[in-house]
Amino acid sequence: MAKATHSPEPSGADTLLKLIASSSTLEFDSEREGVWIEVIRKMDEVYSDLLRYEVDLESKNAELEEAQAFVTNVIESVSDILVVCDARGTVQQANSAFQQTSGLALAEIAGRNIADMIDFDHRTKLPPLLAPRSGTEVVDGELRFRATGGSSDLFAINSSPRHDHRGRFIGVVLTGRPIGELRRAYEALHKAHRELQRAQRQLVEQEKMASLGRLVAGVAHELNNPISFVYGNVHTLMRYRTSLVGYLDAIHEQPVGDDIAALRSDLRIDAILDDFGPLIEGTLEGAVRISEIVKNLRRLSFSKLGEVERVNIERLINTAVLWAGRTKQHRVDIQIEVEPDLWISGNEGQLHQVIVNLVENAIDAMRVTELPRLLVGAARQGGEIAFRITDNGPGIDKDHLSHIFEPFFTTKRVGEGTGLGLWISYGIVREHGGELSATNEPQGGATFAFALPAA
Ligand SMILES: Nc1ncnc2c1ncn2[C@@H]1O[C@H](COP(=O)(O)OP(=O)(O)O)[C@@H](O)[C@H]1O
Ligand SMILES: [Mg+2]
Repeated sequence: MAKATHSPEPSGADTLLKLIASSSTLEFDSEREGVWIEVIRKMDEVYSDLLRYEVDLESKNAELEEAQAFVTNVIESVSDILVVCDARGTVQQANSAFQQTSGLALAEIAGRNIADMIDFDHRTKLPPLLAPRSGTEVVDGELRFRATGGSSDLFAINSSPRHDHRGRFIGVVLTGRPIGELRRAYEALHKAHRELQRAQRQLVEQEKMASLGRLVAGVAHELNNPISFVYGNVHTLMRYRTSLVGYLDAIHEQPVGDDIAALRSDLRIDAILDDFGPLIEGTLEGAVRISEIVKNLRRLSFSKLGEVERVNIERLINTAVLWAGRTKQHRVDIQIEVEPDLWISGNEGQLHQVIVNLVENAIDAMRVTELPRLLVGAARQGGEIAFRITDNGPGIDKDHLSHIFEPFFTTKRVGEGTGLGLWISYGIVREHGGELSATNEPQGGATFAFALPAA
């Protein structure tokens, strides 16, 4: 250890020597004097060492204070929240970002359990963050804190474990940054993306419908001609039949030769005459059905709104539901929920057809449903009137959802469905400024919905 060479004050040894020299009454023994001087020198050394230690200590202390101030300053200036907890969750330290978030001063925070400062709904998320662990494993989580006047923004939290010098878990350091803004931005983005996808699908759908419409219009146009002559010919055949049958009946009343009688039986003339009527009637019925379909297709393909009038929704729905139930055998519990005094401007006949189609489809779908229930509703929604037809049937097969509005798509047996109902309804709703859509209900059943501008 180096000795101090200069001392600012007179050293203890000097003072003592002066004291000894100034004393004239003392007898000096040279040996004892040497010992004294040695003792005094040692004392002097110890004293100066002490002084040096003190100076060292002071400078170390100053350094320590500076370091502490630095650390505190850093912690205080981070915008992230920082909370130090012991193993039980008692807060030992919290930075000003946390004090601002919670609206509490450090004195109110320190010593309290962190659980008291967390939003009630988020308390279950705390234990994993406080869980003891070895090593440096960081646990992530999300928390909302209590704040003045409610709860804070959502924070993304990192919990780092703290250990003592023997490696025992003594608590955690929680750091966190607000992510509510980010989350909201993300959700907005997600929503915009979904809207975009929907718009795109809708565009594709509209384009598909439009081209199908053109195709169907072409086919309908082509069919119109042959159908009209099938129709005309059948009517002529009916007239011819009456003449022929009258004539043959007259002949059969006359006595005829054996060969003619044999021919009559071999050719099963009587059976043919009996069949004649039903065959022609069946053909006529077929022709009528085909021309009905063609008429529908043509009407829609070249669809214009036609006559526009003020339509009262309550009356429209009541008559359509009555009409739709008319031909159906099985009983369905139909509930109508329509706000009174709703009006739109449109073509009443066409809108009637839409509701009838949708209700008929629903009743058909619920054929084997135990307690079939149908809800037909209309309500004002801003400037629009929202229509809803919900059944509790089997719903629409996932693979069929994107096809049900196509012309001729049907899952019904031949003769039971044409597959035109929804296609026609889709077109009519679009002409009226809405969009017909179908969804499956989570608890089963299907909902058809559309909204039209209120009058
Ligand atoms: N409420 C509904 N529940 C389940 N499936 C339905 C419902 N409405 C329509 N569908 C399905 O959509 C298909 C097409 O309906 P639509 O165009 O009216 O033709 P159709 O009634 O002649 O079959 C139906 O065959 C059926 O598979
Ligand atoms: Mg139908």
